[in-house]
Amino acid sequence: MSQKKPRPYAADTKAANTGLDIAVSRRRFLVGGAAAAGSALAAAGVSAKVDLELLPPNVPPWSQALGVNVDQRPYGAPSKYESGVVRRSVEWLTATRESSVNFTPLHELDGIITPSGLCFERHHAGAPDIPPQAHRLMINGLVAQPLIFSMADIMRFPPQSRIYFLECAANGGMEWRGAQLSGCQYTHGMVHCVQYTGVPLKTVLNEAGLANKAKWILAEGADSAAMTRSIPIDKALDDCFIAYSMNGERLRPEQGYPLRLLVPGWEGNMWVKWLRRIEVGDQPWYHREETSKYTDLLADGRAREFTWVMDTKSVITDPSPQKPLLSRGFQVLKGLAWSGRGAIKGVDVSLDGGMNWKPARLDSPVLTKALTRFYFEWNWHGENVLLQSRAWDEFGYVQPRYADLHAARGVNSIYHNNGIQTWEIDGAGEVHNVRLN
Ligand code: MTE
Ligand code: CO
Repeated sequence: MSQKKPRPYAADTKAANTGLDIAVSRRRFLVGGAAAAGSALAAAGVSAKVDLELLPPNVPPWSQALGVNVDQRPYGAPSKYESGVVRRSVEWLTATRESSVNFTPLHELDGIITPSGLCFERHHAGAPDIPPQAHRLMINGLVAQPLIFSMADIMRFPPQSRIYFLECAANGGMEWRGAQLSGCQYTHGMVHCVQYTGVPLKTVLNEAGLANKAKWILAEGADSAAMTRSIPIDKALDDCFIAYSMNGERLRPEQGYPLRLLVPGWEGNMWVKWLRRIEVGDQPWYHREETSKYTDLLADGRAREFTWVMDTKSVITDPSPQKPLLSRGFQVLKGLAWSGRGAIKGVDVSLDGGMNWKPARLDSPVLTKALTRFYFEWNWHGENVLLQSRAWDEFGYVQPRYADLHAARGVNSIYHNNGIQTWEIDGAGEVHNVRLN
């Protein structure tokens, strides 16, 4: 068993303004000072001070005056006490701000849907500003009739809504060789799960009429990176989807407004944003994003190509380095699991680094190719804990240990890291990213 302390990530991992001030001190007030881990509280940025005047039986000021009226917020925003719940980036990760990534704050989320404003962003050339009336989707290549659709044309097709996770193939790439980053936001936060509305790609392709020789499509984005990926026709006709809405409203600019491709269960890089063209062909195009990038370098120098499916994975989001344990006794652990092949079948939790496992409780809905929420109830008495979760899917694929992952694929890879994560809880309730093999 080898353990390595993570390199501390200095910038902004502290939660700001968590709004816990009142809740925490109120609990202390009521239960008479739960001798919780004070340093863990400090790490979470939680101040235990609250003006007793604000607590019952006193009547606080907000109960004595009118609140904000309905005209003040034509488009709502989260409470100011939740201002620490934001996407964050890692300074040293990419060279420029435009070709960059930020991370979903998984540790702060409940349920399975990622709020639109918290979905991680990955751009290769920044997010373009595209007026919808000037956007077109072109279909060309091996089709009976090349077509150009306006957004109004696309929206005339009968719509459908679907919930899917999107995970960047590079999620956890920094963790291949060992524990590095302090928080599941950084180690696992290149994933989001959204309800999309749009049209099956099949509907639009059939409108153009596929030639018999059609075996592949090429999807191309309208950003200046002109992101392009080859996708086999079977997948394109199976569950690929072109979406114009997310979580009930139009796509956010950073998620591909006004149109994006969904490739459910497959690596995020293929989910071309700002989708402007689909070419139909009889072989793959071998573009940059599927040759020099998004291939997996093995130990013997060969590289795996077209590694599309995102394998089964899970992570405990609370407790985690950004979510220390605040008290001893009864705890509800929270986590997320997902599989690019289908539905999650089960998740186990270990408190001793993988020696013993107990089943976690899956919350509904458990959807195919979507995030699945799990919980695990336990008691903590201040002992050292090595927390792990291990998910498997409906096809029997079990999330691997790092030893198995490294044996199969070496340590050169960046993409497709789905190894079992370990969080170490120390006596003060603080949580550290450590590596067990
Ligand atoms: N599409 C275009 N046109 N340009 C891009 O840079 N980035 C890809 C993909 N689609 C990208 C793109 C990558 S690598 C990922 S992981 C996902 O979009 C990220 O989607 P998100 O920004 O909605 O999280
Ligand atoms: Co990506």
